[in-house]
Formats: sequence, structure tokens, C-alpha cells
Amino acid sequence: MFKFRTLLISVGVLAIAMCANAEDTPEIKELLQASGCLSCHSIEEKIVGPAFKSVAAKYASDADAVSTLSQSIKNGSRGKWGRMPMPPHSTLSNDDLKALASWVLTHKP
Ligand code: HEC
Repeated sequence: MFKFRTLLISVGVLAIAMCANAEDTPEIKELLQASGCLSCHSIEEKIVGPAFKSVAAKYASDADAVSTLSQSIKNGSRGKWGRMPMPPHSTLSNDDLKALASWVLTHKP
């Protein structure tokens, strides 16, 4: 019985430790995958689109960044980073847009 309780406590502690890293939840990874973001973006390197780290750095002191980036993801964006435009993602819900934009902004260097 004692061992079982120890096990339960360990699992609990582990779960809390994992949640503490709120940046890369399975939900956001799934959303990034399902939305195709990762075929053009990575966190560290420019692929077709800018590195998410660079985006976070550029908007680090912009109070409206979540809404600006949500709009860019939803409607597409061109001319801010280079000659390649980003296509619109108009089927994403406002909650998903906000989650993606906020997540991108957590990657400040
Ligand atoms: C077909 C390639 C492609 C896909 C797919 C794509 N992006 Fe982009 N993304 C780009 C390019 C290119 C830019 C730079 C656009 C510009 O210069 O304005 C960009 C820019 C951005 C920016 C910065 C916008 C700004 O206003 O500065 C964010 C944030 C972003 N993408 C997030 C995402 C997310 C989240 C997804 C998935 C829903 C996604 N992108 C899917 C190519 C892509």
C-alpha cells in the first residue's frame, strides 16, 4: 500500500513538472502539425517563413502582437519578412489563432 501511494505521488509530481513547461504542450504541437505551419516554419531556423524565434524577437515589445500575428496567420502576410508571402489560414478558429500567436511569442531569445 505504501509503495502504491509513493508511486501515485511520483506520477503526480511528474505530471506537474510536465505542465510547468506550458510552452510546448501536445495540443499546440498537434495544432502546428495539423495546420501545416511546420512545413514553412521552425523555431530556430528560417525555412520558407521566418524562424518563430525571430518573430518573437521582432514583436517582443509590441503590446498588440497577439492580435497582429493572429491576423497575419488568418489572412496571410506579405512583405514583412521577405519576398515569400504566407498564405491565409482562414479556417482556424479565433481560439486557435490566439493560441498559435501567443505560442510563437513565447520564443523570445
Ligand atoms: C507556405 C508556407 C507557410 C505556411 C504553411 C505558414 N507560414 Fe507563416 N509565414 C510564411 C512566410 C513566407 C512568412 C513571411 C510573410 C511576410 O513576409 O509578411 C510568414 C510569417 C509568419 C508570421 C509573422 C507574421 C507577421 O505579421 O510578422 C507568423 C507569426 C507565422 N508566419 C506563423 C505561422 C503559423 C502559426 C502557421 C500555421 C497556421 C504558418 N505561419 C504557416 C510562410 C508560411
